[in-house]
Amino acid sequence: MSNPADSQPQIYPVLIGLMGSGKTSIGKLLSKELGIPFVDLDHYIVEKAGKTIPAIFEEQGEEGFREIESEALAEVIGKPVVLSTGGGAVMRAENRGLLEAHAPVIWLKSCLEFLAGRIDGDKNRPMIAGRDTLKTLQELAEIRYPFYTQCADYILHRGEMNKAASLHAILQYLRRWKNEHAFD
Ligand code: S3P
Repeated sequence: MSNPADSQPQIYPVLIGLMGSGKTSIGKLLSKELGIPFVDLDHYIVEKAGKTIPAIFEEQGEEGFREIESEALAEVIGKPVVLSTGGGAVMRAENRGLLEAHAPVIWLKSCLEFLAGRIDGDKNRPMIAGRDTLKTLQELAEIRYPFYTQCADYILHRGEMNKAASLHAILQYLRRWKNEHAFD
């Protein structure tokens, strides 16, 4: 006899979005709620490369970083974890292919002024080093928003939502997602 639990879809959410959008902090809360581990792709990359993200950018350039990031994403996506990705993970077509094939992918979207306030002066984020933070985010948003849209199954417009409200909205979405996919 078939076990009803077999028809229960597994939920391994992947979080995408620009720097400062709360992927790591919300990902950690989500992992507690779902009872599965949390993986931050940037941390995974740092472990894999044995150096910090600024050091990778300095020694291997952004392309070198993207290479490691693609390898890392291919290694981790689909594992039974909550995965938060770096803001630029959608830049390569191969990564978008992986993200599109996976579900659910959740885009945490906030206004750029808010994000700029959160990340301004962060030494661990080479994409903004020595540049105007808001202007850089505007440029990145122009390129990346179509990619986030392409990869996301759900867009959380955070607006004024704090972490708890964001978590609540995501959990509601995941409940719907689970019901919709129960008999896939
Ligand atoms: C990057 C975002 C960073 C990190 C790297 C590049 C980007 O991750 O992957 O510095 O290109 O937007 P967060 O989005 O977690 O800050």
